Amino acid sequence: MSDDLLNNIFDNAVKGIQLIKNRKMLTIDYVPDKLFFREEETTTIAQTLSVALKGSRPSNLLLFGKPGTGKTAVVKNVIKKFKEKSASLGIEITVTFVNAKLANTAYKVLYEIAEEMSINKLETRNQVYFTGLSLGEATNRILDFIKKRKLHVIFIIDEIDSLVDKNGDDILYNFTRANEQFLDSGFITLIGVSNSLTFKDKLDPRVRSSLSEEEIVFNPYKIIQLQKILKERVKLAFCENVVTDGAINLCAAIAGKDNGDARKAIDLLRVASEIAERDKVSQIDEKFIRLAQNKIEKDTNFEIVKNSTTHTKIVLLAITKSKNGNTGEVYEIYSKYCKSIDNEPLTQRRITQIISELDQLGLVSSNIVNQGRYGRSQKIRITIPINTLKESLKDDPLFVTLINILD
Ligand SMILES: Nc1ncnc2c1ncn2[C@@H]1O[C@H](COP(=O)(O)OP(=O)(O)OP(=O)(O)O)[C@@H](O)[C@H]1O
Ligand SMILES: [Mg+2]
Repeated sequence: MSDDLLNNIFDNAVKGIQLIKNRKMLTIDYVPDKLFFREEETTTIAQTLSVALKGSRPSNLLLFGKPGTGKTAVVKNVIKKFKEKSASLGIEITVTFVNAKLANTAYKVLYEIAEEMSINKLETRNQVYFTGLSLGEATNRILDFIKKRKLHVIFIIDEIDSLVDKNGDDILYNFTRANEQFLDSGFITLIGVSNSLTFKDKLDPRVRSSLSEEEIVFNPYKIIQLQKILKERVKLAFCENVVTDGAINLCAAIAGKDNGDARKAIDLLRVASEIAERDKVSQIDEKFIRLAQNKIEKDTNFEIVKNSTTHTKIVLLAITKSKNGNTGEVYEIYSKYCKSIDNEPLTQRRITQIISELDQLGLVSSNIVNQGRYGRSQKIRITIPINTLKESLKDDPLFVTLINILD
């Protein structure tokens, strides 16, 4: 490559139109200092925790709400301030924050708690190794450490439903019961955060009642609230006059229709800005939000199909080839394709179930069509572009030949 060409690229990068002034503010982990419309939730959590500053045990707390309603952001903000306050007052309170979904296993949740409490640095006897202990032993070591040092501890477990789904509620049982053994030697408060509204039903009644000493529900944001959240984020992240009001309103409308999810609203903005940067335009208007929406949907559909089971993939192919779209015909084509790749077909009942799962995911639509004197019949259709389907099957070796039916 010639020097001139390289110089050109670098000069353009410097001269080029700058859309974003602070990219970090559009990332998933970024928590703004100011969270709108969550004063009540913030106050309740802060008030609950504040009794710890006087040496008493705060109630356990469960936070619920749909995705993107600000649960993690609010909790993170409150504990940040709480830690600063307790440190400035010289009060020793240990606060740990673990995301159970990211930690992935119950053992890893315990390991991360131990790490955040610095057990491994401070003691040899109660160390919780990266691997190798039983869950019971790891829990006991943490509890022993708290008891011996008479610690005041607040455990926050984000996405707590993922822990319970995978490993049951034993750890939560042990933590909530531990206060009885500690007597005056320390305490544990548990704060659980979940976006599954049915999470509580999965708990043993004893765990349920102690974990939900207090509960806070985070409601979905309304469109007008999302507009305000987006407007403020735009001020922080973008250069002036880059994002039009129309674009902000459209983002809010799309995300508002979709469960009032602030994450989705901010994601739309981020993806729109990536497309605008690539196209070297100086303004982000509604068109870029629409492009972003298509891209996000396409990426999501692609991932769903790619990670589906072989049978689900074959069902999708069969639906694209079915002329009248009824379950019988789809099943017939599906069975034929299964045999062509030496796979035993599942029962028609199971395939009907798979179709209804695909319907819920929005990959297919199945409507009942009225056929006059011939009665009513089901019409199953694929709703994602054939190209997306093709792309997501491309790397699956089982589909090398079957995929040709899409041409
Ligand atoms: N009130 C708000 N003001 C400003 N930004 C917000 C507000 N609520 C949420 N956000 C932003 O929206 C995104 C999603 O919020 P958050 O991660 O707290 O959602 P959540 O309720 O924890 O969702 P999930 O259940 O999926 O974990 C974050 O980027 C956060 O900064
Ligand atoms: Mg969260």
